[in-house]
Amino acid sequence: MRLKGKSALITGSARGIGRAFAEAYVREGATVAIADINLGAARQTAGEIGDKAYAVKLDVTDQASIDAAVKAVEDRTGGLDILINNAALFDLAPIVEISRASYEKLFSVNVAGTLFMLQAASRSMIARGKGGRIINMASQAGRRGEPLVAVYCATKAAVISLTQSAGLYLIKHGINVNGIAPGVVDSDMWDQVDALFAKYENRPKGEKKRLVGEGVPYGRMGKPEDLAGMAVFLASDEAEYIVAQTYNVDGGQWMS
Ligand SMILES: NC(=O)c1ccc[n+]([C@@H]2O[C@H](COP(=O)([O-])OP(=O)(O)OC[C@H]3O[C@@H](n4cnc5c(N)ncnc54)[C@H](O)[C@@H]3O)[C@@H](O)[C@H]2O)c1
Repeated sequence: MRLKGKSALITGSARGIGRAFAEAYVREGATVAIADINLGAARQTAGEIGDKAYAVKLDVTDQASIDAAVKAVEDRTGGLDILINNAALFDLAPIVEISRASYEKLFSVNVAGTLFMLQAASRSMIARGKGGRIINMASQAGRRGEPLVAVYCATKAAVISLTQSAGLYLIKHGINVNGIAPGVVDSDMWDQVDALFAKYENRPKGEKKRLVGEGVPYGRMGKPEDLAGMAVFLASDEAEYIVAQTYNVDGGQWMS
């Protein structure tokens, strides 16, 4: 077991990729806070994973909620070792139609949520003096823009940049900050993505998803479980010397 005795908090882990991370972390010996804005779903997921997982109510756009979630983890496990900043929202629209409300919502969850979760977690880790690991979920969308996806792409580029700055600052406290950039992953989020492309590209439902899957060099869309190995590795002792990097785990879609 590579994470035996570690205490992790994973934002947005009631479903999808975050849930797959929680399952993998528990298999590797960690105790995991399923921290999600949807407390009912978080409770259900924690119950299905088993007694090493527990639900915590978290809205990453609310500072009091962030502070309470970190404190809940400290109280329950004695201290936070690993944070995965996984919660995010998706939206798309042509540049000429983007609304300020959509822009503010995505930046509030994907960027401010990542930064202020990272800040609260790192303050807790520094006070405890045992170092820690922080993993931020970026995306291939953060590597380059897309004609219909300007705002989400910009939020994920910001996550890659925050990972670099925070990684460089926090390593002196023994806290390694790194990121994972998935390509296209079959999750509830992608069902929403497909519906939006159907609307703006005038396609039948399901077509965009099929086409992007066929376009992946590996030959299919990713599954949430495909990302879990990297999330375990980055939290493990083997990744001690890795600082401020973002790794593509995308079936060969982006090379950097
Ligand atoms: N699915 C993909 O193709 C894909 C590709 C690249 C990157 N990613 C990234 O991976 C991560 C997970 O994606 P997913 O597909 O599993 O998403 P998802 O939409 O299935 O799950 C997101 C979770 O975040 C929670 N959440 C939303 N707003 C929140 C808030 N304010 N506070 C706390 N929790 C909140 C939701 O309740 C949900 O459980 C995201 O950062 C996403 O941008 C996904």
